[in-house]
Amino acid sequence: MDPVFGLLGKRALVVGGGLGIGRESARLLAAQGASIAVLDLDPARAEVMADELRKAGTTACAVGADMSDPAAADAAVREAADKLGGLDILVNIVGRNSMRTDLADIAPEQFELLLSRNLRHHLYTSGAFTRLLRAQKKSGAIVMVASVAGLVASPGLGGYAATKAALISMTKTMSAEWGPLGIRVNAVAPGVTWTDRNQWGEEVQAQARKSVPLGRIGDQTEIARVILFLASDLASYVTGQTVVADGGATVVTAFDAPST
Ligand SMILES: NC(=O)c1ccc[n+]([C@@H]2O[C@H](COP(=O)([O-])OP(=O)(O)OC[C@H]3O[C@@H](n4cnc5c(N)ncnc54)[C@H](O)[C@@H]3O)[C@@H](O)[C@H]2O)c1
Repeated sequence: MDPVFGLLGKRALVVGGGLGIGRESARLLAAQGASIAVLDLDPARAEVMADELRKAGTTACAVGADMSDPAAADAAVREAADKLGGLDILVNIVGRNSMRTDLADIAPEQFELLLSRNLRHHLYTSGAFTRLLRAQKKSGAIVMVASVAGLVASPGLGGYAATKAALISMTKTMSAEWGPLGIRVNAVAPGVTWTDRNQWGEEVQAQARKSVPLGRIGDQTEIARVILFLASDLASYVTGQTVVADGGATVVTAFDAPST
């Protein structure tokens, strides 16, 4: 436990904490002394993770909820705060793309699903968290998981990319609206990343070796480390930002210009 993080005694709600980047974030925050509410759509998954944290000596609880439902999100944030005696940090990692579709052919229901999976719950959860802290006159930190898809053109994934771009925009506005309350709001934008759910095949690995300056696919722990930084006092003067963690993929061009 390193005091430089300032996380000892802080209380963090990790939405999507039962798996992948969320689970790693919960582990890293707990290792630096935070109490954790593990929230997941799958309550059993949340309970397994909370149990793991408790066995390692962390104060932890599980909350089961579907955060894409505004009433459920509100109730779940209050339940987490009741169980931990308040909240200081919100990490929301939930999001998912869908079948690749050209924007000319995207079905309205597919686009609605993408909005639900990637954007609405960030608004509901962050809003509920902020109303709680505002009522208690407490400061805090919010970290969202966006994607590099929200920063560059993403042919075939235009619906997903639009929701992530909107999330990056919402992060900026929330930081401006809630900065005076002492609430910092930031996001991480991962590039291609190994997670518990995303197990990439040889074709993607070969593409990563070619197009990612670091020459490999990222790992979920590397994304969780950025989340840890943004949630911690190390980032006490950082707000409204989206930190790109993509091995450098978005700073290079695919066009290999010949010499003239
Ligand atoms: N893997 C990549 O290459 C990559 C790249 C860029 C961005 N991302 C982003 O990373 C995030 C996903 O990370 P992951 O793959 O580690 O997580 P994941 O998709 O495996 O999900 C984590 C947990 O979230 C829970 N969850 C899903 N919907 C929920 C809801 N409505 N309410 C509450 N909980 C819910 C799931 O049950 C699951 O346990 C997404 O935001 C995704 O867009 C991933």
